[in-house]
Amino acid sequence: MSERVIPLVDQRSAASAAARHGLPAAVPAQPIAANGLLGDQLGRPLHDLRISVTDRCNFRCSYCMPKEVFDKDYPYLPHSSLLTFEEITRTARLFVAHGVRKIRLTGGEPLLRKNIEVLIEQLAALRTPDGAPLDITLTTNGSLLARKARALKAAGLQRVTVSLDGLDDTVFRSMNDVDFPVAEVLEGIAAAREAGLGQANGKATGGLKINMVVKRGTNDHEILPMARHFRGTGTVLRFIEFMDVGATNGWRMDEVLPSADVVKRIHAELPLVQLEPSAPGETAERWGYADAHGRHDVAAGEIGVISSVTQAFCRDCNRARLSTEGQLYLCLFASQGHDLRTLIRGGASDEDIASAIGLIWQGRNDRYSELRGSMPADTSPGARRIEMSYIGG
Ligand code: GTP
Ligand code: 5AD
Ligand code: SF4
Ligand code: SF4
Repeated sequence: MSERVIPLVDQRSAASAAARHGLPAAVPAQPIAANGLLGDQLGRPLHDLRISVTDRCNFRCSYCMPKEVFDKDYPYLPHSSLLTFEEITRTARLFVAHGVRKIRLTGGEPLLRKNIEVLIEQLAALRTPDGAPLDITLTTNGSLLARKARALKAAGLQRVTVSLDGLDDTVFRSMNDVDFPVAEVLEGIAAAREAGLGQANGKATGGLKINMVVKRGTNDHEILPMARHFRGTGTVLRFIEFMDVGATNGWRMDEVLPSADVVKRIHAELPLVQLEPSAPGETAERWGYADAHGRHDVAAGEIGVISSVTQAFCRDCNRARLSTEGQLYLCLFASQGHDLRTLIRGGASDEDIASAIGLIWQGRNDRYSELRGSMPADTSPGARRIEMSYIGG
């Protein structure tokens, strides 16, 4: 096994520098109408806004916030840097005018942000230009869900996605690296279901979802137990290829288990049939459990595989990411964001901020996962990619 060497000091200063120096967001001379018709350089619409509400987390998953880097001296964002709930909601409203229909709250661990229910209430009150509510969801590690599920639902949250990397307690404790017991996350999932955060709302994949990051040799033996556990529960389990996101997780290709292998392993015991995508630009490929006739058994449900490494899905990527401190990132693998906070706090009008967002999206040509492998790695400090804990999944 090759050794993983993490140059601590360098990583920390680079990460905080990346956070501080966003590209200025320019207001174009000609306003860009927020009419939902925005397209980027590759013709991709803006549909999905992922908002990170904190860069902190109570877990230390090695693929995301390795303990060696994210220790007590890590320079987390100071409170004054964080967008307030009012600032987030105002910005989100302008994104909605541009076409956003789905908002996902992420972190870090979003449930660590104080009074997150208040933000959810504000976002749930937003309407599309046609008067429809938004699809509002949240990605959580589940540790606080048992306590918070009912309040989240009452505030207007429709569904949640819970990260869970295995059922075996020893495996789970070692993956979260803070010795957190799996039973508490399972309680959180049950509480979410009871609170009604698992209702499908008539959409094929609209309900409660579980995300499992698969690392070959670490938790791949948990794939089948997880599939058996969630089959027939109405909960969609999704397997995620371990990604080279950020700059600190010691990513290696030999720890990636291709989704094709995940499907093969499950299919050998629980036959699967491929399903149509439920929405354009979807991250997951859907597979349904088959009945005795080889047709999808709806009661048994479905799984998803997210193959950002072996089968990139940039072509239809309609996701924008707003960082905790108000920087707009156009790709999960970007090294720089566009600083919206300076505009927001500098007294810019709604029209100016909406135009600035429009201009940034129109200039977008990111497709990192498609280019991965064909690009030489840029290791200069300025090019260091942002961390997933800063920008959110
Ligand atoms: P829903 O299906 O609507 O619930 O949302 P989603 O498909 O966007 O799923 P989710 O937010 O749970 O994302 C699942 C995982 O997919 C993330 O944690 C990432 O690992 C990965 N992912 C999500 N969006 C992107 C993306 O734009 N690019 C890449 N490369 N990976 C992504
Ligand atoms: N590879 C794949 N997914 C990751 N996540 C975080 N880091 C990685 C990585 N290196 C995703 C997982 C987790 C969510 C919070 O972020 O899906 O569930
Ligand atoms: Fe926290 Fe989620 Fe990152 Fe794990 S993957 S460290 S739970 S933000
Ligand atoms: Fe979108 Fe970037 Fe992910 Fe490609 S790598 S799907 S462009 S966020």
